[in-house]
Amino acid sequence: MKLAKKDWFFIALIVVVVGVFWAISGEVRTKKVPFDENHRKFYEAFRRGEEKMTIDRACPACHNEQPGGIPFPKNHPVKPAEGPMRCLFCHKFKQQ
Ligand code: HEC
Ligand code: HEC
Repeated sequence: MKLAKKDWFFIALIVVVVGVFWAISGEVRTKKVPFDENHRKFYEAFRRGEEKMTIDRACPACHNEQPGGIPFPKNHPVKPAEGPMRCLFCHKFKQQ
């Protein structure tokens, strides 16, 4: 089957639409909270119905720029110094 010009136009349109959806879903591709020993209790707190904003406050205990803390990547969009960190706003819990 030979594709006519308008078929190619249609295919290009689909590629663009899919590309746009992929781009705006960017936030969802941010790394999720690992489900491991360090983070399991937050999954449990969330399941108990605790507010994400309350759970957020526990994250900097380990994730901080102090000696012994886990530093943020250089390109991290927010730094702890910039005020309260809404970690779970960007880093979602994994689907259980
Ligand atoms: C008890 C210490 C501890 C606490 C508290 C903690 N983390 Fe972590 N987190 C770690 C360690 C260690 C790593 C790196 C190793 C790993 O991937 O588990 C990590 C890694 C991560 C990563 C990167 C995962 C990846 O795929 O690279 C994210 C995102 C994260 N934590 C989010 C959070 C959030 C959100 C909170 C608060 C709800 C939190 N952490 C609280 C210890 C902690
Ligand atoms: C505005 C959105 C946003 C907020 C708020 C945010 N992060 Fe991130 N974080 C990102 C992005 C984007 C990256 C880049 C890597 C990625 O895709 O996950 C990242 C990377 C990380 C990494 C490194 C993951 C790796 O590559 O191993 C950790 C750990 C992490 N964040 C923890 C936290 C913690 C803890 C908080 C709260 C104190 C927090 N983040 C708040 C968006 C955010």
